[in-house]
Amino acid sequence: MSPRDGLQNEPGLIATADKIALVDRLSNCGFSKVEVTSFVSPKWVPQLGDAAQVMQGITRKTGVSYCVLTPNLRGFEAAVAAGADEVAIFASASEGFSQKNINCSVAESIARFEPVLAAAMAIEMPVRGYVSCVTDCPYDGPTDPARVADVAAQLIGLGCFEVSLGDTIGAGTQETVTKMLDAVLAKVPAQQLAGHFHDTKGNALGNIEVSLDAGLRCFDASAGGLGGCPYAPGAKGNVATEKVVQLLHDKGFETGIDLQRLQETAAFAQSLKGK
Ligand code: HMG
Ligand code: MG
Repeated sequence: MSPRDGLQNEPGLIATADKIALVDRLSNCGFSKVEVTSFVSPKWVPQLGDAAQVMQGITRKTGVSYCVLTPNLRGFEAAVAAGADEVAIFASASEGFSQKNINCSVAESIARFEPVLAAAMAIEMPVRGYVSCVTDCPYDGPTDPARVADVAAQLIGLGCFEVSLGDTIGAGTQETVTKMLDAVLAKVPAQQLAGHFHDTKGNALGNIEVSLDAGLRCFDASAGGLGGCPYAPGAKGNVATEKVVQLLHDKGFETGIDLQRLQETAAFAQSLKGK
């Protein structure tokens, strides 16, 4: 997530060449997927206004899928033109965040995603879905787990191959994440779920552990722990990828990731902050 979620909230504009270098370094760490950028309104997220140039500049590595965020059909078309391998749509389990982040209600966002899914299916482009604020919303407070399950099931029903469950402000605890997962798993199997934990309060690794226990095997993370959402006050970085890989290796999982290269990449990612 570092080139996208990691950089989207950085106040100073980061050079396109540095973003390209970050993606290329990640491509050489052994990841099967890198979320590169977002084809969103540059008025809303100025930092990612160079999405097309970044996509054009990266060196594509065989076996790596390059994914981008697309909030609407316009973003989808731009993503296809830029050669994205996969796109992601993003919904929220809370109304307050949906309004602030994409300027519409949750129901309106689902209706907006329908033509994106239809267009993607027509060209066999995989679409990932996000649900934000799965335990807590910066505007509406605690989120009802049933609501998360409903939105996740709607995204799968639309045709998403996977739904990433976002603890957008990193306020989730092992208890609230477990309750949320219990509700979601009643509607969507673990193989179609991913965990996306921000590490605001240092809970992310613990939340990944309870997610592993619940059967999840896909986790979003950001090298160097970069990140935050401009429309979620208080949201700090995503969980650091190098910490997640270390945890997984300690637990005996195989990840295919070169931890030393990842640590070098994390240092490079951090050097971009405040540049
Ligand atoms: P809007 O203002 O309601 O819609 O924004 P609009 O259709 O009136 O468009 C506004 C302007 O943007 C217009 O330009 C459009 O042409 C243009 P103007 O006429 O004013 O010059 N526009 C676009 N430009 C480029 N690409 C596009 C596009 N669409 C419209 N695709 C909109 C609605 C969804 C566009 C806006 O709210 C938006 O871009 N929001 C994105 C916010 C965002 O990227 N947030 C961060 C990602 S989500 C996140 O971080 C959470 C996550 O990590 C999971 C987690 O942690 O929970 C995924
Ligand atoms: Mg996020």
